[in-house]
Amino acid sequence: MEQMRKSYLGWLRDAHAMEEQALTMMQGMVNRLEHYPELRDRIQTHIAETEGQEAELRRLLDGYGESSSMVKDAMGKLAAVGQAMSGVFASDEVVKGTLASYTFEHMEIASYRILIAAAGQLGDSQAVEVFRRCLSEEEAMADWLANHSSEITRQFLARTELDLPAGR
Ligand SMILES: [Fe+2]
Repeated sequence: MEQMRKSYLGWLRDAHAMEEQALTMMQGMVNRLEHYPELRDRIQTHIAETEGQEAELRRLLDGYGESSSMVKDAMGKLAAVGQAMSGVFASDEVVKGTLASYTFEHMEIASYRILIAAAGQLGDSQAVEVFRRCLSEEEAMADWLANHSSEITRQFLARTELDLPAGR
């Protein structure tokens, strides 16, 4: 049981770091999408959702007597800053950002499935409920990106053809 709990708490800390990283990435991207208002608005919505998730995971960690500001968090943040910064220089940032977001959402989906299984095994139904809520928000965001990535790509290509600032 102790080992199980240790694994679970490690995954929970990782998920918390992941959400902080997601926030940094999206906040870096959202202000540079002036030509893609639909994508910008959807990301803005997901930023608000992600802030809620981050707070819920932190509350869970606090409840278990675990600190959420471990080394892993700091590393996650650093990686996200790097990602957000590197986007500044990409002329096709909107496409790269869509790709990165889609990938990231699926990592989040996998993480919440793992946490649901682990918390269920430990009999923590309250935590399972939190993770299920997070999971459905991630799935909705992944679906939105799946349904809009073709259109975003076409829009980007059309703007490039017209010599308009296309990347954002
Ligand atoms: Fe997400």
